[in-house]
Amino acid sequence: MSPEFHDTWLVTGGAGFIGVNFVQAQCRRGGVRVVNLDRLTYAGNPASLAGQMEDPLHIFVQGDIGDAALVRDLFAQYRPTAVLNFAAESHVDRSIMGAQPFVETNVAGLVTLLQESLRHWRGLRDQARQSFRFLQVSTDEVYGSLAPEDPPFTERSLYAPSSPYAASKAAGDHFVRAFHKTHGLPVLTTNCSNNYGPYQFPEKLIPLIIHNALAGEKLPVYGDGMQIRDWIYVADHCEGVRTVLEKGKPGETYNIGGRCERTNLEVVGSICEHLDRLRPQSPHRPHQELITFVEDRPGHDRRYAINDSKVRSDLGWQPVETFDSGLLKTVAWYLEHQDWIEQVHTGAYRDWIRLNYGDRLSEAK
Ligand code: NAD
Ligand code: TYD
Repeated sequence: MSPEFHDTWLVTGGAGFIGVNFVQAQCRRGGVRVVNLDRLTYAGNPASLAGQMEDPLHIFVQGDIGDAALVRDLFAQYRPTAVLNFAAESHVDRSIMGAQPFVETNVAGLVTLLQESLRHWRGLRDQARQSFRFLQVSTDEVYGSLAPEDPPFTERSLYAPSSPYAASKAAGDHFVRAFHKTHGLPVLTTNCSNNYGPYQFPEKLIPLIIHNALAGEKLPVYGDGMQIRDWIYVADHCEGVRTVLEKGKPGETYNIGGRCERTNLEVVGSICEHLDRLRPQSPHRPHQELITFVEDRPGHDRRYAINDSKVRSDLGWQPVETFDSGLLKTVAWYLEHQDWIEQVHTGAYRDWIRLNYGDRLSEAK
């Protein structure tokens, strides 16, 4: 007997950090068939979906959002009622080393996905046409950097991206908006702050620091470590995306944040404290002593902060985790899933660490 579902969602990038957390939560919830399209770049990891691969409501397809023929076939075969685009090149430091892959996926690939979604939507009738949604998962980095006294970003803040990554996401968001204004495609955009939690690739600050600290390696802090990010636990972001999909108004954008501004040095310090407590026998205690200030990231944004009043008041979403509870869960998860870390700790990962940190660490005082 085939399982019951009322909707089919085409989820792209569902083997990456946030996508995996979203797909896992949706599979637990049930009622929706998820077609998961992921190219499996270095950041995509099908092993993270081991528990979902047997689920008849989860269909995994390895492929590129920029492959128009494949995307068209998926629309024809599965008739999705919504598209949720998580697929992206997502690491700022990699975008500094080379911007081309960011343009290819975050702009050109996205436009292909939009074009095929439009084609599909135009073929729908009545209720199906009215309820179809295209949701773009975006970032607060499109708004650029804030001074210490500036109010947090609202949905009306101007786009002023600093990094090639942020510029590619900003360009993508503009295309999403243009497909709504020009063609009427019912789009939604979410701009979220920095996520942390299980399954994050250890090139990003929090998993990198956990990984290095456990190994007794240096903890590289860029510049003076006083840059501020707003942090949100990934499950809260995923729930925000689902809320916007189900209740958001087409054409609108929604900021999602944790109301949790921390300097990078505070974040690294908190991870060290958790590890000191959870690993009392570690020869690397106190882990704070591993902190090493290294050359700053070029164009480094000083501060991000999100005003998320709109999604809270209009749609009734709010995060569940505080930074302390979310970070403790995250550190505990990485401690319990050393096998997952080992699996992503490939030659390609080590090459990246050498490329990004080799000179910085050898020149660090
Ligand atoms: P990630 O890098 O961990 O995962 C991206 C996934 O997309 C990977 O599985 C990768 O294989 C897949 N992918 C890349 N190019 C593809 C293509 N051309 N076709 C199909 N799949 C492709 O990224 P993440 O941290 O999970 O971020 C997901 C989305 O959320 C991104 O759009 C990102 O901009 C946005 N976002 C991330 C954060 C954050 O803190 N991580 C915050 C706000 C918004
Ligand atoms: P990151 O996790 O790369 O996210 P983003 O750049 O998208 O905010 O970095 C978070 C912050 O941590 C950012 O200010 C850069 C800083 N950072 C370090 O200080 N050292 C590191 O090794 C990394 C990866 C990041």
